[in-house]
Amino acid sequence: MYMKTLIKSGVAVIALLAAGPVAADEDADLIINDEIEITVRAEAPAHVDGLRTIYSGWVFRADETQALQMDDFENPAMLFADEAREKWTRVEGSAEKSCADCHGEPESLADARGTYPKWNDQAQEVRTLAMQVNGCRTEQMGAEAWKYDSAELLNMEALLSSVARGNPVNVAIDGPVAATFELGKEIYYSRFGQLDLSCANCHEENYGNNIRADHLSQGQINGFPTYRLKNARLNGAQTRFRGCIRDTRAETYAVGSEEFIALELYVASRGNGLSVEGPSVRN
Ligand code: HEC
Ligand code: HEC
Repeated sequence: MYMKTLIKSGVAVIALLAAGPVAADEDADLIINDEIEITVRAEAPAHVDGLRTIYSGWVFRADETQALQMDDFENPAMLFADEAREKWTRVEGSAEKSCADCHGEPESLADARGTYPKWNDQAQEVRTLAMQVNGCRTEQMGAEAWKYDSAELLNMEALLSSVARGNPVNVAIDGPVAATFELGKEIYYSRFGQLDLSCANCHEENYGNNIRADHLSQGQINGFPTYRLKNARLNGAQTRFRGCIRDTRAETYAVGSEEFIALELYVASRGNGLSVEGPSVRN
């Protein structure tokens, strides 16, 4: 099989690249339930020098995996969103409120998912969607925060993503988040581990190639949280980052750390122009 020549990323990636059993239709279009049109390829945002076109990870998946996401009855992730929909109306915490008491239907928050991580003025911090949900739990409800990337939190993120599907990813990168953006970018281009590889070495320079038995995507996070066939549950973006860094045989940052919040903001912004697609299905 023919493969692109790798110039910058050295021996490590070349050693990992392999011909694999791939049946991906990279030209396919994603329409969910014959109704929600998802932008899976778009012109790269101006701040991403290394890419001309951005692609959703869905594009690189095998036909059968792609199909699972085209119908909510087939998409296993939707069961988890449904669980959160039940919790949505459950009163919790000292204020004796549910999410519904303040927000009405989850659909009223359809504009949220595509803009996170974003600056929260009151808290004077960059918040991921997970942090914002927990902010509401602790500050508005007097309830306990859910653990980062726990099932409860991921279910709620899946619900908030599901109602936002088809809306554009549009993460701000300037103003009060500028320093966070720069930190995230620096991490993205840093080489990690014994393999001495950066996120960019794989996801910017080698997307479309096969690595081990996998078809490399651009590592976009518009589809998160993601149901992985591999572990049959929802996975958060930062847990995914951990897995990728571990694969380079490096120590990694903690989920919820300043570094991963910054990396999440940066990676999310690389998808500006794609649609919110989560909860997605991946292998
Ligand atoms: C007592 C009222 C109250 C309750 C209960 C509440 N929220 Fe909120 N929520 C707010 C307010 C006020 C804001 C906007 C201010 C802020 O950023 O904190 C907000 C903001 C949000 C946002 C961000 C919206 C955006 O466009 O950026 C999300 C997402 C959210 N809430 C989710 C939830 C979830 C999920 C629950 C239940 C677990 C919940 N909220 C419970 C009052 C509430
Ligand atoms: C050695 C190559 C390699 C490196 C380095 C690497 N990844 Fe990955 N990554 C993969 C493979 C393989 C997959 C699974 C196939 C795919 O979706 O690209 C993956 C998947 C992902 C996904 C899931 C995409 C989706 O649509 O579900 C994200 C997000 C991601 N990587 C982000 C990162 C980030 C951020 C970094 C840097 C901290 C990184 N990766 C470093 C190989 C790598």
